[in-house]
Amino acid sequence: MTNQNLPMAFSKVISLPSLLLAISSSLLLASLLAVSEAHYNSHVPSSEPIVEGLSWNFYEYECPDVEYIVRKHLKKVFKEDIGQAAGLLRIQFHDCFVLGCDGSVLLDGTTSHPSEQQAAPNLSLRPEAFKIINDLRELIHKQCGRVVSCADITVLAAREAVYQSGGPEYNVPLGRRDRLNFATQAEVLANIPGPNSNASFLLTSLATKKFDATDVVALSGAHTIGRGHCGSFIDRLFPTLDSTMDPIFADDLKEICPEKNSTNTAMNDIRTPNKFDNKYYVDLVNREGLFTSDQDLYTDKRTRGIVESFAEDQEKFFEKFVHVMIKMGQLSVLTGKEGEIRANCSVTNSNNPKLVSPVEEDYETQAKL
Ligand code: HEM
Ligand SMILES: *[C@@H]1O[C@H](CO)[C@@H](O)[C@H](O)[C@H]1NC(C)=O
Ligand SMILES: *[C@@H]1O[C@H](CO)[C@@H](O)[C@H](O)[C@H]1NC(C)=O
Ligand SMILES: *[C@@H]1O[C@H](CO)[C@@H](O)[C@H](O)[C@H]1NC(C)=O
Ligand SMILES: *[C@@H]1O[C@H](CO)[C@@H](O)[C@H](O)[C@H]1NC(C)=O
Repeated sequence: MTNQNLPMAFSKVISLPSLLLAISSSLLLASLLAVSEAHYNSHVPSSEPIVEGLSWNFYEYECPDVEYIVRKHLKKVFKEDIGQAAGLLRIQFHDCFVLGCDGSVLLDGTTSHPSEQQAAPNLSLRPEAFKIINDLRELIHKQCGRVVSCADITVLAAREAVYQSGGPEYNVPLGRRDRLNFATQAEVLANIPGPNSNASFLLTSLATKKFDATDVVALSGAHTIGRGHCGSFIDRLFPTLDSTMDPIFADDLKEICPEKNSTNTAMNDIRTPNKFDNKYYVDLVNREGLFTSDQDLYTDKRTRGIVESFAEDQEKFFEKFVHVMIKMGQLSVLTGKEGEIRANCSVTNSNNPKLVSPVEEDYETQAKL
């Protein structure tokens, strides 16, 4: 009897529907775990100091998946073209150095008032990178509403660019707001040093933003990925060869840029052009830096030792780079009720024809509910 009842009882406990339920709920649990794993301790505060108004877990309730969305989308983007990682990393630099990390570099200009993007020919930012930031914004706002700023998306995208190119993974404080205007061309030129800058100029110029010599050398390490156009270094080749450049390296560059007006590009780091590592500093030690602003960090006695230490010790470079990226990411940020959360990173809300809501704060409050 009991033997007969057992299978009955058994089949009652684990009926087919309940078995399916059990399987599907364990799948659900597994997928939840996968997602939370994808958060890669993103909300663990770093020991880096943060400015008032930013926090390590700013979107914890309003958009907990924001970092996961950025990581996932950029994985796809970089698989197709890893060069976009360099484009995105450079955008954070140009955004933060001019007015502050406020998304102002993302704004389109008008014919009468050119944008920051158009400020100087040598400083050309990749147009695709702006498109990628807007695509990220669309994905994020679709899931969470208009709660995440374009300024924050810029910083998150740069973080992913570093990490997915082989560099360090680091947390970034969030909560930036988007600026309502962009800088003049003069402001861009005054804040973004040109490739012909020497180390003296860089040290002085970046000291105004409270960066020390180690910060300057670490920041320049971003040139471990990406490219430069001939115009950014051609003066080192013609009419006379820059004496701090290795002559064989110079011959290679002359093949890429045979004339003063050549428009080709060379890789910033000849050793591992698409990998975020410390080989950029090995290049400098071997007199194979692309720009004067790179090579002079090795020529100048004040920065030479730092270059050498990073060339020898990648972990040390990564540590200093993370420190300075978090620091740069907090330059003159807008927080709280300052600025706005743009609905389109290329245009302020008041100039956005697609935006119907007349009162922005109402829209944001709704998104939060
Ligand atoms: C310290 C002064 C700096 C100077 C003088 C400088 C100058 C330049 C120049 C001239 C280019 C090439 C533009 C072109 O010809 O297409 C370039 C590319 C690049 N820069 Fe810098 N830069 C500096 C700092 C930085 C910083 C702080 C970062 C980021 C943290 C950065 C990231 C990049 C990246 C990733 C590229 C490659 C972009 C691409 O492939 O599209 N740079 N930089
Ligand atoms: C841009 O490159 C040209 C050389 O092609 C150089 O004369 C000029 O100074 C560069 N501009 C900046 C801002 O470095
Ligand atoms: C560095 O550049 C600045 C500005 O172009 C120039 O005045 C200065 O003489 C240069 N210094 C050295 C050591 O070359
Ligand atoms: C550069 O200038 C030379 C004349 O000096 C001309 O023959 C050549 O076509 C130009 N190249 C480009 C890429 O504009
Ligand atoms: C964002 O704004 C730009 C500039 O006005 C426009 O070209 C673009 O189509 C807009 N994107 C979206 C998704 O509305």
